Amino acid sequence: MFVIIFGPPGAGKGTQAARIVQAHPIPQVATGDIFRKNLREGTALGIESKGYMEAGKLVPDELVSKIVADRLQQDDCVAGALLDGFPRSLPQACFLDAWLAERGMAIGLVVHLVVPDSVIVERMGGRRTCTNCGATYHVSVSPTKVQGICDRCGSQVIQRPDDNEATVLTRLATYHEQTSPIVEHYRALGVVADVEGVGSIDRIGDHVIEAITKAFPV
Ligand code: AP5
Ligand code: MG
Repeated sequence: MFVIIFGPPGAGKGTQAARIVQAHPIPQVATGDIFRKNLREGTALGIESKGYMEAGKLVPDELVSKIVADRLQQDDCVAGALLDGFPRSLPQACFLDAWLAERGMAIGLVVHLVVPDSVIVERMGGRRTCTNCGATYHVSVSPTKVQGICDRCGSQVIQRPDDNEATVLTRLATYHEQTSPIVEHYRALGVVADVEGVGSIDRIGDHVIEAITKAFPV
């Protein structure tokens, strides 16, 4: 079961991904999280991706695609994966489709979280992210129990460096130019479920799980 959780920056991909992997035994493969982990660890990949992330631009396709392919070859992805933040351009989508097809597999569902730009800018200003495990919070919608401390692992939560308003606007522009055309690519394959991404996190989560259950009946 290969599922893409798709939408603009701040659509709630990470928030909903955390719920999906609780309901379905597939790993979340989040390219942004992979880059941030590498950055914390000071690896060459982290250093190379830093400038792109801080500028709100896409890391080059070849680099991202190789990282995802390596990750999908690991044992825990044998039964599938939940892709969060990948693919993010048509070349990445074509790479992924070809990589899966070579192995007799395909994307079974793209959950498209639909959120207008005006909502995104407000959300990003209030987002806080754990420096250790990457858990996501919002200062008013889903705050930590203890201010500044991650509920899940007890580490510090901070504002992501790319969550300032100027970078968020660039990320949105990048999304509209390079990423959103992917929806039509997958719509033509009949695998897109549009889910309204504004409203309570729980209610959106119910709609996301419904879409997955419909696409992968037991
Ligand atoms: P990435 O980390 O993937 O960032 P993104 O796509 O911009 O998305 P975000 O993680 O910012 O948002 P999200 O949709 O996960 O929302 P969240 O659940 O946190 O990528 C970062 C960078 O890495 C890119 O800019 C690029 O440079 C690089 N990169 C990554 N992948 C790449 C690729 N494939 N190719 C090239 N470059 C790549 O929610 C946001 C906030 O809203 C939170 O505070 C949350 O609590 C709150 N919230 C969630 N749902 C709701 C709701 N229903 N109501 C109110 N608030 C809500
Ligand atoms: Mg995310």
